[in-house]
Amino acid sequence: MVEAVLQIESSRMENLIYTWVQIVHNFGAVAVIGSPAAALSLSRQNQIVRYKLVWLMLLGWLAQGASGIGFALTSYTMKGALLEVTGIALGALILKVGCTFIGTVLTGFYLATRLRWSAAREHRMWQLMLLMTVSAITAAAFLRWYL
Ligand code: HEM
Repeated sequence: MVEAVLQIESSRMENLIYTWVQIVHNFGAVAVIGSPAAALSLSRQNQIVRYKLVWLMLLGWLAQGASGIGFALTSYTMKGALLEVTGIALGALILKVGCTFIGTVLTGFYLATRLRWSAAREHRMWQLMLLMTVSAITAAAFLRWYL
């Protein structure tokens, strides 16, 4: 009886932790997609807005990396094993991790060296960011349904 109650409590706790990790992940997804979309359409003439958008994008990539690790840690600590990811789901996960890694490094590099970047190069960087975020969010659907 006591064991059954403890199990229900642990499963509730697991759901709550997954929910919070997912909330961070969802807002991170909005940030990484919204920032290049806004920079390429709404704020092409406004350098100050674009600078703020780069920070938003960096925060978004960091949130995705941290919450991605959070998913793994939650299953490892609550279930005693990592999620079993194979086949199409594994391909989708690798794509997401790759985009997140390149996105974080490139955004950090841009922030450190942006004064030396031409407008054309910066424009290409935003386009690449948008491409990576569209790829990552598409991969998320495959990861969700092929897991
Ligand atoms: C280090 C990088 C990433 C890792 C490790 C990661 C991992 C995960 C995991 C494990 C899930 C839960 C899958 C499930 O059980 O359904 C998930 C869901 C999701 N991820 Fe990521 N992710 C990463 C990056 C991204 C990025 C960059 C985006 C968006 C641009 C993104 C968007 C989403 C969305 C929208 C979901 C919810 C899918 C659904 O439930 O329908 N992820 N991610």
